[in-house]
Amino acid sequence: MTTTIHTINELQTQIKTWKNSGFVIGLVPTMGALHKGHASLIKKSAETCDKTVVSVFVNPTQFGANEDFSKYPRTLDKDIQLAEENNADIVFAPSSEEMYGKNYNKDFMTLVCPPYDLVNQLCGKTRIGHFDGVATVVTKLFNIAQPDYAFFGQKDAQQLYIIKKMVKDLNFPIKIIPCPIIRESNGLAISSRNQYLTQEEKQKALSISKALFTIQKYYEQGITDAQTLFDTAITVLDKDLELEYLNFIDYETFKKTDIIKQHTLVAICAKVGSTRLIDNIIT
Ligand code: PAF
Repeated sequence: MTTTIHTINELQTQIKTWKNSGFVIGLVPTMGALHKGHASLIKKSAETCDKTVVSVFVNPTQFGANEDFSKYPRTLDKDIQLAEENNADIVFAPSSEEMYGKNYNKDFMTLVCPPYDLVNQLCGKTRIGHFDGVATVVTKLFNIAQPDYAFFGQKDAQQLYIIKKMVKDLNFPIKIIPCPIIRESNGLAISSRNQYLTQEEKQKALSISKALFTIQKYYEQGITDAQTLFDTAITVLDKDLELEYLNFIDYETFKKTDIIKQHTLVAICAKVGSTRLIDNIIT
């Protein structure tokens, strides 16, 4: 049975009871609109931990002024059902006021700002302030839920890297568990934003994962030059897509690399119509 909690106070009371009983606590932070990708995180937490908290909060501090905050899908009843099916114990669904107070103002609050070198590339290059918002809300959720483990999807590879770094730098006693990207059978990475796509756009969006799989294939055949792989992938991308980036990043240092080797993150972002999609592979 999954209990839904809306206040920090109530969640903390429950967490205290669990801690006193020695339970291992898992946290799955989400913005709701839960899908198979989230289900895999919740399932993993329920298998790993005694108790699982799923937070559902569309976090205003990580959206830019021209982004999709107001239209982001909010489907709490369905989310609770999916959380329950995957053995979550609590769905924590606070209001914005509960998280940030009455007169929320991003310019007048303490923010957690990840290192500039990590933020100023891939998504952070165009989503100014996005990772400050992510790091801040994740810090708040960690402080509120006091988890032993927290589960994040590999699809948001830059976010995952930044959170791992934050946990290390700020000494959070939390183990971050990365979980693999879940794809449709046709290869499309599952995302809450796929809901925005028309059927035709969905077909076009397929070329994003196809481009990544092409890179993987040529890399496995021995091609390691980033420019050659980039040029080949570009030919696979649907011509109607607006490519924001296709970058090759050393996933140990998070620096761009010209030569692909093991543990290179190949990350792509493209707009299909007005929907911005991201995907990646790690070689
Ligand atoms: O990945 C997400 O859904 C969000 O960025 C997160 C981690 C829940 C923070 O709001």
